[in-house]
Amino acid sequence: DKFLKEEVTEECKALLSTLPKEEVMLSTLYKYQGFWCAARPLAGVLACQQHFQAQDTDILLTTTPKSGTTWLKALMFALINRKHSPITKDHPLIANNPHDLVRYLELDLYVNHQVPDLASFTSPRLFSTHLPFVSLPKSVHQSACKLVYLCRDPKDTFVSLWHFTRKLRAQNPEIISFEAAFHNYCKGVNPFGPFWDHILGYWNESLRNPEKLLFLQYEDMKKQPRLHLRRLAEFIRCPISAQEETEGVVDEILGFCSFDNLRNLKVNKDGRVSTGVENSAFFRRGEVGDWKNHLTAEMGDRLDKIIEEKFCGSGLSF
Ligand code: A3P
Repeated sequence: DKFLKEEVTEECKALLSTLPKEEVMLSTLYKYQGFWCAARPLAGVLACQQHFQAQDTDILLTTTPKSGTTWLKALMFALINRKHSPITKDHPLIANNPHDLVRYLELDLYVNHQVPDLASFTSPRLFSTHLPFVSLPKSVHQSACKLVYLCRDPKDTFVSLWHFTRKLRAQNPEIISFEAAFHNYCKGVNPFGPFWDHILGYWNESLRNPEKLLFLQYEDMKKQPRLHLRRLAEFIRCPISAQEETEGVVDEILGFCSFDNLRNLKVNKDGRVSTGVENSAFFRRGEVGDWKNHLTAEMGDRLDKIIEEKFCGSGLSF
C-alpha cells in the first residue's frame, strides 16, 4: 500500500516482512514484541524506542486505546498547569483538543521517522503512549519518570474501538464486520493487544513499584472522580493544597474536563487533531456499561469468561 511504499524505512520494511500479520478492521496488523500494531505506528514505535530520552521529571500517560485517554490527558494537563493556567476562557484546553496538548510518542511525535525537537517542552514534560510496559523506550525504565496507566472494562473498550474505527474508515464503514472485529478482539488481535497482556503488564508493575506507576481504571474514575484526581495530583508531586480545596479546585478541574464540557467546545466539534482525526471522534457517549447496547448476551459472556480466565488470581477485576 501507499504507506509501505513511501513512508517506511528499509529497516522497517525488512522487519515487517518477518513478522506475523493479520487483517483486522480494514488494516494489516503486525505482531511485534508480543503486541499487534499497524505499519505506520510501528515505524513510530521503532523510532521512539531508539531515540526517546526520558527525563526524571517526565510524566508518561500510558493507556489501552479507547480507555479514556482523552479524558486523562485533559485532567493531567489541567492539573499540572493549574498555577499558570487557571481555568478561564483563555485556558489552552478551550482552543486545543487534549491530544494536541499531550502528544503520543509513537502515533504523533515519532511518526514518519521524525525525531522531534523536545527542547521547547517545559518540565514536567507530559507525553502519552499505548506501548505495553515491556516495550517502553529503555530510558523510561531507567529514569525516575512517572507512569500513569489507564484501562477500562474490555467490553466497553471493544465497543468504543469499533465505533472509533468505523469513523476513521468513514468511506466504507459498512464493510467492517462487528462480529469479525469481536472475534479478533477475543483472540487478542487488536491495536496494542492482547488487552490482557497490556493490562497485566502494567498491573503487575504497579504492585512491584507503586512509586513509579499509578494504575487507574475508567470505571473507578467515573465513580469517584474527586478521590482519583487527588491521588493523581499527589502521585505527580503536586498535591491539592488545603487552600485549593477550599477554593474548589478539584471540582473546577473535573467540571472543566467533563465529557459534556469538552465535547461541546467549538474546537472539539469542528477541529481535527494534528494527525488528521476529527476531534469529535474522541467523544461518543462516555459512559460505563454501554456495551450492553451493542454486544449480545452471548458475546458479553464470552468476553467475561476471557477476562475471568486471564485476570484470575491477579487481584484485578472489571
Ligand atoms: P465511548 O466510545 O464509550 O463513548 P480514548 O480517549 O482513549 O480514545 O477513549 C475514548 C472513550 O473515552 C470514548 O468512550 C469517549 O466517549 C470517552 N471520553 C472522552 N472524553 C471523556 C471525558 N471527558 N470523560 C469521560 N469519558 C470520555
